Amino acid sequence: KTKTEELVDEIQKLKEERNALILGHNYMVPEVQDTVDFLGSSLQLAHQAADTDVDVIIFCGVHFMAETASIIAPDKRVLIPDLDAGCSLADSITVEQLREWKAQHPDAVVVSYVNTTAAVKAESDYCCTSSNAVDVVNSISEEKEILFLPDKFLGGYVEMVTGRDLTIWDGACHVHEKIGEVNLSEKQEEHPEAEMLIHPECGCSTSCMMKSAMYFDCEDGHIHSTGGMLEQAQKSDSDEFVVATETGILHRMRKENPDKKFHPANEDAVCEYMKMITLEKLHDSLKYDQHEVKVPEELAKRAHLPIERMLSIA
Ligand code: 13P
Ligand code: SF4
Repeated sequence: KTKTEELVDEIQKLKEERNALILGHNYMVPEVQDTVDFLGSSLQLAHQAADTDVDVIIFCGVHFMAETASIIAPDKRVLIPDLDAGCSLADSITVEQLREWKAQHPDAVVVSYVNTTAAVKAESDYCCTSSNAVDVVNSISEEKEILFLPDKFLGGYVEMVTGRDLTIWDGACHVHEKIGEVNLSEKQEEHPEAEMLIHPECGCSTSCMMKSAMYFDCEDGHIHSTGGMLEQAQKSDSDEFVVATETGILHRMRKENPDKKFHPANEDAVCEYMKMITLEKLHDSLKYDQHEVKVPEELAKRAHLPIERMLSIA
């Protein structure tokens, strides 16, 4: 057996012993993707955390995702293999900044992307992910002003689809904001037959959506969450795709569609936080019961309602 196979065997054994569930985001490194019990988008993983009856959830993803699991499943022990696995987008708004923003717009409804800290969620009315942001905004009365945070590109995309004016925070993900129109135009020239799959956090999402909605005569403009991109890759008749998001998703796409070709829009779109979660750290997490992510009870209570709303608007 190789060292990796031995490690995976040990992980499976420890998982049984601890009655644990291993969740992993679509951006994980390949060997972690191949080892987790459930691989998915932020929304799919939150649903899994809500539905499980295990004792321990090991979250192979970034910190805000583990926090969300701790809020949804307060009686479970939630562990993250590396506590430094953060998120630049979640860091782009603090709870103090949000309180100040709310004070300037006292009647507004606050819609927060799931990529936020628990403290920010606790100050929000709704949470959303990239797969249900449009539905969440559509569920709010047209009379209401909406403060949308923290991602300006997702906000712009939601404005475009819903036709509503949102007040949008000036935040972005450092990985997705560098995926721009130039990358996509170049890739389109290189692979003229390829279908575009674009994550709404990308720097080009609004302009690309307008263009592709026009060219392809489709409503969503080929903009999808990671879960939506994977679904589209499987159901589409195209056999070649340009993928505009974090490159980790390509492993799963290629595995699920061995006869199709996938090209990253930008090879450098790599999230160093997601890559901090290695097989070795996953093993140690199970073996040494580290590192617990526990949102304090009072904060968790306040953050629960916006998350519940997100889960019910699927
Ligand atoms: P999804 O919600 O589409 O899985 O994306 C999460 C994320 O962190 C994007 O960078
Ligand atoms: Fe955060 Fe961007 Fe990494 Fe996603 S890709 S976890 S939004 S830093």
